[in-house]
Amino acid sequence: MSDDVIRIFDTTLRDGEQSPGCSMNISEKLEVAGALVELGVDIIEAGFPIASPGDFEAVKKIAERYGDQTTICGLARCRPEDIDRAWEALQHAKNSRIHVFLATSAIHMQYKLKMAEEEIVRRTAEMVGRARDYCDNIEFSPEDASRTELDFLCQVVETAIDAGATTVNIPDTVGYATPSHYFNVIRTLKTQVPNIEKAVISTHCHNDLGLAVANSLAAVEAGARQVECTINGLGERAGNASLEEIVMAIRTRSDFYNVRTNINTPRLVPTSRLVSSVTGMKVQRNKAIVGQNAFAHEAGIHQHGMLQERTTYEIMRPEDVGVVGTNLVLGKHSGRHAFQDRLKSLGYNPDPETLRKVFDDFIALADKKKEVYDSDIVALVEQRTHQVHETWSMVRMHTSAGTGTIPTATIELQHENGEIRKDAATGDGPIDAVFVALERVVGLSATLTDFEVSSVTSGKDALGQVNVTIQHGSETYHGTGISTDVIEAAAVAYLQSLNKAMAQHQTKSE
Ligand code: KIV
Ligand code: ZN
Repeated sequence: MSDDVIRIFDTTLRDGEQSPGCSMNISEKLEVAGALVELGVDIIEAGFPIASPGDFEAVKKIAERYGDQTTICGLARCRPEDIDRAWEALQHAKNSRIHVFLATSAIHMQYKLKMAEEEIVRRTAEMVGRARDYCDNIEFSPEDASRTELDFLCQVVETAIDAGATTVNIPDTVGYATPSHYFNVIRTLKTQVPNIEKAVISTHCHNDLGLAVANSLAAVEAGARQVECTINGLGERAGNASLEEIVMAIRTRSDFYNVRTNINTPRLVPTSRLVSSVTGMKVQRNKAIVGQNAFAHEAGIHQHGMLQERTTYEIMRPEDVGVVGTNLVLGKHSGRHAFQDRLKSLGYNPDPETLRKVFDDFIALADKKKEVYDSDIVALVEQRTHQVHETWSMVRMHTSAGTGTIPTATIELQHENGEIRKDAATGDGPIDAVFVALERVVGLSATLTDFEVSSVTSGKDALGQVNVTIQHGSETYHGTGISTDVIEAAAVAYLQSLNKAMAQHQTKSE
């Protein structure tokens, strides 16, 4: 790859998924991996194969399905069993990478590893060599590199490259670095490590001080040519560097950085939306690039300037990151073809069966709602394209509530084997009653740990979106529902999360 291309290494499925409450099941991981391929990321870190059978399976499936379209990477500690397991998961991918890591800071060596410097160097050489015997694309990370004594860091990096590492990643594991500090670390490696030209230098920054993106960009200035990041900045604690911010900073300020990425930027917002709905981790409204307000100009003076010439207050075009405007869309008399064209221009190309369902949803919505916007269409299509196995599906529901009455809900569901079941329940409010009735019908009870209602567009008749998170056993599951009736949206979201819990339960007992 030429020296002006920054490789984008996405670790949403590994470092991002590791953050509390963000776990994904295998089909969700496959869906996110597919979106990352469409986005054009150069490397997908798909998981940590030795961590659990589920992680192993996910890396293997992603490697098998997408390993001919991008590079699939699996993480391994500096241990033979980790490296062997990572290779077992990756071996069928056309393009694969083993990512080996070992901590090098004094604090980690003393308290966590209880290893001396010589042992770290020896282990690095042995384990990178072992990985290299399997695969010629090897990444080595000296964990907590930003707090590692610089001479020692240079020594370990040189050893890893000698043993066959083709990428050396310099993690700011605890988000301690500042831009000029991190620039200096990367520049020192670039100028002091004798064999550094044989490897690509990579950055991996955590956001504890809110500096992950700034640090990653400082590293690019210093010569790093790979950036590790996650969609929406997902990740442990304050998260990892956000992919969309890095990519758009590099693109918007190409005059300054003189580099580019391979990212298909109009896929940024759809991918962000997918990751948010799969993990249940909402994107803050004013988040750069993908937040709902990122391109909204409220101040009169700004609006005036924009009307004269958009570049007065706009440094990026919303369409370049895939922001869907609030354009009035087709009415209920528009035909299927016009609807399909609209979907295409929004970046969706559903299969005929999904198209039929989304079109029916659209007609139903257009019946209820005066004006249907692009954002409504996106919400409908995304709801239909998320592959959640429906053990139970909604047939009908009824609720009654009001002052001085006991809220009640009646629910009728159909099992995938055709069986119909009905039950009713009371609750603190109509939504509580719906949740209790749903649990009774499906025969599974869970704890509701998060519940959020938002509107897809503005106006009294806007579509309401409900996101729920439930806990069942030690696992959490997310569900999303949309409807002009928020009680119905809540029912759909809760049923979706119960279906996910049931699917997981079945997989485990198989
Ligand atoms: O933050 C970190 O140090 C990591 C390594 C495993 C690369 O995630
Ligand atoms: Zn990390």
